[in-house]
Amino acid sequence: MIEQIEQLKNEAAGFEIGDKKMLEDYRLKFISKNGLLNKLFEGFKNVPNEQKREVGQALNGLKNFIQTKFDENSENLEKKSAASQLDEDFSLPTVNQLGSRHPLNIIQNQILEIFAKLGFSVSYGPEIESDWYNFSALNFPANHPARDMQDTFFVDKEFALRTHTTSVQVRAMENRKPPIRMISPGRVYRNEAISARAHCFFHQVDGFYIDKKVSFADLKHTLYYFVNELFGSDTKVRFRPSYFPFTEVSAEMDCTCFLCKGKGCNVCKYTGWVEILGSGMIDPNVLKNCDIDPEEYSGFAFGMGVERITMLKYNVKDLRMYSENNQKFLQQFKGVV
Ligand code: DAH
Repeated sequence: MIEQIEQLKNEAAGFEIGDKKMLEDYRLKFISKNGLLNKLFEGFKNVPNEQKREVGQALNGLKNFIQTKFDENSENLEKKSAASQLDEDFSLPTVNQLGSRHPLNIIQNQILEIFAKLGFSVSYGPEIESDWYNFSALNFPANHPARDMQDTFFVDKEFALRTHTTSVQVRAMENRKPPIRMISPGRVYRNEAISARAHCFFHQVDGFYIDKKVSFADLKHTLYYFVNELFGSDTKVRFRPSYFPFTEVSAEMDCTCFLCKGKGCNVCKYTGWVEILGSGMIDPNVLKNCDIDPEEYSGFAFGMGVERITMLKYNVKDLRMYSENNQKFLQQFKGVV
């Protein structure tokens, strides 16, 4: 028996463990239930009594030896694999880039970056919104068509899917003290028939600035800067008078067509101009609704559709392309960040 113990010890000592597979082979051969060590232990009952003490000690010594070798190698292999992971250069580009950013995401990020440079912080709001945040606080008259069942998806009497991200302005005004410069991107919903130019959900970026003595000149300057950054410095801008319940005065802003540079093409319907956003000076009623004193503070606001700007920048002809998961469409944006 002592001889067998010696033999097994030599065998275990000579067993080479270079990787996890070898470690497992070692475990199976020596330590597992059906392994050689257990077999030796089984023979212990046949050892004559006067030898039991000596053989028992030798067996326990062997067991310790085999187990210690296993533990040490197991630990070393763990350390090695952790170290080799640290050696990886995670900044290396992959050979095959699997995904790509969605075009709406690309343009939305560009818009947020431009306003971040002007000190606008980003804020998000819920997509299911109460009447107060979506309409009432924003000075919508009780009979305004946007409140109608044809335009709005109502959840119940009180709540609806937000029809614009202007709702986030109210939340911010209620919670913060001026000066506030904030931008809010997000998905909005309208009960529209789906076509190449309209969808029942789309994305907007809304923004506003409230401080003492904010004027329409500040609004124009901010939006000029935005257009220059997004479409290039050769882009011209014009404002047209408009109406929104939550702004007074209100204006829509057009740019010279990004594609034909104002010469006229099918994207701008040969007018040379494309509409980009709605804007205006925040109506004093909205400020009052949010506990901001309109005698002390004034502000401008603006809101734009991300789908529309993306259409212009990438010449996308059909709005439905954005949500159809067509690989041929999406793969064109590979590598754009
Ligand atoms: N909420 C408007 C819409 O969905 C867009 C808009 C216009 C937002 C003027 C504004 C604004 O913040 O000042 O059509």
